[in-house]
Amino acid sequence: MLVRLIYASRAVSVTRDSLFDIISQARNCNPTSGITGVLCHGHGIFLQALEGGRAEVNSMYAKIMKDDRHKDVTLLQYEEISQRRFGGWTMGQVDLGKAHTSILLRYSEKAELDPYTVSGTVSLALLEELMDNAAIIGRV
Ligand SMILES: Cc1cc2nc3c(=O)[nH]c(=O)nc-3n(C[C@H](O)[C@H](O)[C@H](O)COP(=O)(O)O)c2cc1C
Repeated sequence: MLVRLIYASRAVSVTRDSLFDIISQARNCNPTSGITGVLCHGHGIFLQALEGGRAEVNSMYAKIMKDDRHKDVTLLQYEEISQRRFGGWTMGQVDLGKAHTSILLRYSEKAELDPYTVSGTVSLALLEELMDNAAIIGRV
């Protein structure tokens, strides 16, 4: 049984180094639990999609919620899926500080990542469009 979970959170003093640590941790650990996904960051916000087995995704989300490198962790969407959308990434990365303005503007009032003000469906559409525009790095 595959599921996809999407959440948003606010970074707590995240630097380039700590971001690198988070991505490395994800890329090291996710293959063991069969989790794939994408982590978007920009404007002090994280938007992450996790896909994989229900038990594995649930327990990873429980761990992530307790991580003090971010706060205001908010579940945006949780659904059973028949296939993965982000299966090519143990954890893909999108730095929204680096352009992609027109993609952001398509889905929000300002060219800023703000998943707290849009639906989970819109956040998934944004992630899919970033993928279609080859904005996700770190494919393995
Ligand atoms: C925004 C964010 C995203 C994260 N994504 C993942 C992830 O996809 N996979 C992962 O193993 N850890 C991820 N982590 C790190 C986990 O919160 C946790 O530190 C890590 O799984 C190690 O937990 P443990 O020491 O309890 O095993 C993320 C942390 C943050 C702040």
